[in-house]
Amino acid sequence: MKRAAFLAVVIAGTLAGSSASPQAPSSSNANPVAARGAYLVTLGDCMPCHTAAGQEQFAGARALNTPFGVVYSANITPERETGIGNWTSDQFYRALHEGIRADGAHLYPALPYPYFTRMSRADTDALYAYLMTLKPVRKVTPPNKLPFPFNVRALIGVWNAMNFKEGEFQQDAAKSSEWNRGAYIVTGPGHCGGCHSPKNFLGGDETSRPLGGGLLDTWFAANLTEDPRSGIEKWTPDDIVEYLRNGRNARATASGSMQEVVVYSTSHMSDSDLAAIAAYLKDQAGRGEDRDQPRPQAVAMRAGEAIFVDVCTACHRSEGKGVPRFFPPLQGDSTVQSRDPTTIIRIVLEGSQSPPTDGRPTPLSMPAFGWKLNDQQIADVLTYIRNSWGNRAAAVEKSAVVKLRRESGTGTALTSALALPFPDAADSVGSNGPTVMTRNRHNQRLSGG
Ligand code: HEC
Ligand code: HEC
Ligand code: HEC
Repeated sequence: MKRAAFLAVVIAGTLAGSSASPQAPSSSNANPVAARGAYLVTLGDCMPCHTAAGQEQFAGARALNTPFGVVYSANITPERETGIGNWTSDQFYRALHEGIRADGAHLYPALPYPYFTRMSRADTDALYAYLMTLKPVRKVTPPNKLPFPFNVRALIGVWNAMNFKEGEFQQDAAKSSEWNRGAYIVTGPGHCGGCHSPKNFLGGDETSRPLGGGLLDTWFAANLTEDPRSGIEKWTPDDIVEYLRNGRNARATASGSMQEVVVYSTSHMSDSDLAAIAAYLKDQAGRGEDRDQPRPQAVAMRAGEAIFVDVCTACHRSEGKGVPRFFPPLQGDSTVQSRDPTTIIRIVLEGSQSPPTDGRPTPLSMPAFGWKLNDQQIADVLTYIRNSWGNRAAAVEKSAVVKLRRESGTGTALTSALALPFPDAADSVGSNGPTVMTRNRHNQRLSGG
């Protein structure tokens, strides 16, 4: 099929799927502290986690899957009984800095306070000032669905003792100010390691392998270190900036839980902040996450090749070279060669739509193959793409596909979350750069305007 015709089909299918109710922009004007807080809300991606699909922004009640059960996010609008309207800025600082609620109880680390602790008092005060400008919404947070003993908040104190180190970000004088800014965003408000760092059995970060790739809520967040295959050694700083701004670059596209991060957070970060993140990431040495793997069985490779040629080359082209920025190349792709194949299994089972961003407003999609290919076929085609054209990674077992097919669709409602309009945050930023425009445009686009 010709590429143009193909694109038209893909695009038409995708646009039909995106819909959202736009919200009238409310123009309240910016006190400069609250405007800084609005930008910190972008860096911390607070809104989508604190908004249930189709519900009022920041009013909480979004279900978050943890390895131990479901935790609901809290209402952080300034409503006095169900929100944080009665909280002082001291109490707010303590929540983000220590994970302690206004009433003294422990908060679950589903709120990424192990990262937010690196924010300064001035940062949390700005966030507080911004949140206090929101419309108060009365909404009671549903009870969590956690079995005993995980429903005992006091036990989080034990978790903290093993997994949490309190403390504001400290500059490293030996590094540039750009590096330090990147380190602050990645390890602080951006909480990138929350998904990208491997987890221990308690769901805490394995401190010896920061950003080495992690599994969270049945998505594998790629290795962001300089490992040559599964990491981003081949990426230039500009590649990283382009990916974070547009949700895709010549090498890859953002799928799964990264889409929400791109749409609500990184695509609205300033150019200098994206460059700072890139500078910091390019300085993360690989730690040998690419282990030597035995060659897969020839029978799996042959079966996989036949499927690839039959159904995948239409878009990913021969030798998996792809069409950069339209159909991601699979040759040399880090996600394809990930230590853990969860993300690529899910993409083939469920399909994937690239997130619309201002830089790349036209979404592309990959169709779902879960109905067309059986578990063994999916395992084989993935084993094949992980071990062809110079790629090398462990074979994908049929059992892994069986497991994900069972769990498929149980992830926290990403697609519905993506249908959320952007927060009014943008509108109170006032003259603070292009954010206002871009977010409003995004709302219009999602509503078909
Ligand atoms: C990954 C999802 C996630 C992100 C991102 C997130 N939160 Fe939360 N937050 C939660 C969850 C879940 C809770 C409830 C935890 C609990 O009940 O123990 C919570 C609770 C809170 C609370 C305590 C409120 C209360 O009444 O107990 C505050 C304050 C808060 N978040 C502020 C923020 C701010 C500010 C940001 C952005 C800088 C943010 N959160 C980002 C998930 C998130
Ligand atoms: C909610 C979980 C989550 C958070 C938080 C998150 N990511 Fe991701 N990220 C993912 C997942 C999942 C992928 C894999 C997506 C794919 O391969 O299509 C990914 C992929 C990426 C990639 C592409 C890697 C590759 O090899 O293709 C980059 C770069 C990236 N993330 C950077 C970041 C940065 C920087 C932050 C913090 C500002 C961040 N991510 C926060 C889940 C997350
Ligand atoms: C109709 C075109 C099309 C076909 C056919 C197709 N793909 Fe895709 N594929 C895409 C697009 C577009 C993306 C990017 C999706 C996104 O941004 O979320 C993608 C993404 C991927 C990714 C993730 C790459 C990354 O870096 O995150 C993998 C792996 C993949 N496809 C494998 C396959 C396999 C295996 C087949 C055949 C069974 C296949 N695709 C068939 C269009 C296609």
